[in-house]
Amino acid sequence: MTYPIHRLRRLRQSSTIRKLVQDVHLHPTDLIYPIFVAEGISEPRSIPSMPSIFQHPLSHIAKYAQEVYEKGIRSILIFGVPAKKEEHGVHAYKTDGIVQNAIQEIKNAIPELCIISDVCLCSYTTSGHCGIVNKEGVICNDESCRSIAKIALSHAKAGADMVAPSDMMDGRVSHIRTLLDQEGFEMTPILSYSVKYASSYYGPFRDAAECAPTFGDRKTYQMDFARSREAFLEATSDIEEGADMIIVKPALAYLDIIAKLRPFTPQPIVAYSVSGEYSMMKAAAMQGWIQYDQIVLETLLSMKRAGADIIISYSAIDVINSLQKG
Ligand code: PBG
Ligand code: ZN
Repeated sequence: MTYPIHRLRRLRQSSTIRKLVQDVHLHPTDLIYPIFVAEGISEPRSIPSMPSIFQHPLSHIAKYAQEVYEKGIRSILIFGVPAKKEEHGVHAYKTDGIVQNAIQEIKNAIPELCIISDVCLCSYTTSGHCGIVNKEGVICNDESCRSIAKIALSHAKAGADMVAPSDMMDGRVSHIRTLLDQEGFEMTPILSYSVKYASSYYGPFRDAAECAPTFGDRKTYQMDFARSREAFLEATSDIEEGADMIIVKPALAYLDIIAKLRPFTPQPIVAYSVSGEYSMMKAAAMQGWIQYDQIVLETLLSMKRAGADIIISYSAIDVINSLQKG
């Protein structure tokens, strides 16, 4: 049997039909919005490389979280920017550190907002590395894991609903799981940055979190984008160690990795559409070269199509606005 040549166009003839047959969706509750809280500032501070994104002072953080919640955001990923750095990053696990205080204030103000805390050392170490550096300039894996577990515990104690280690040390998920369980936080899930590449797409974020390394790079702990199968090793070990959900990061240039991991694990997969992706779209839109709202929807939908369940995006509020407009 032969078909008329326009057969495939039938289901494209009206927006009602197009909506009916749509099989990939974006929902406001799929989105996680990153926020930055900084010590030692009294007004929001803009981040030049990330238009419309700010570092927020602790004094405004509950009010800001409330605003974000009212705009439809149901989950945030919180990053702390301390006033003082220290060789071993010890201020990262202080009971009354910047991020611990912020978590507490937000939780008290809006208990329904899911707070996911980024767990890392890089904003807290003088080296700017995600682990502890020894005299030879080497990043000490196990010592770093012990500090990272302490950071995660301090966030859980402050009221974080979930902890998200982004350091890429080997074995940190099991260190965190063990310590959380010992201390009575056996129900706190771990969202692990399992598949995190050493990427130039993080540039703008390092301005926002003030965490650029002062020497070298992150290639000894983050993944090499020229290796294609290592993602399975990273995902497997994190899941075995107790990760409840896994992140693939960046997202846009790594959709193949999301798609390959999808049938490999039933665990929720989270795509992190990182700062560089956001800034590229913003910058082109500011030039009038692309339509921001349209391109963001298309881009984030591609992550869902690849197999991501959840997306971390700096455009989350813009997306919710567009979805509400239809
Ligand atoms: C640091 C961290 C980074 C991001 C999240 N946590 C940067 C890095 O590894 O250098 C990147 C986020 C983004 O670019 O939006 N542990
Ligand atoms: Zn880090």
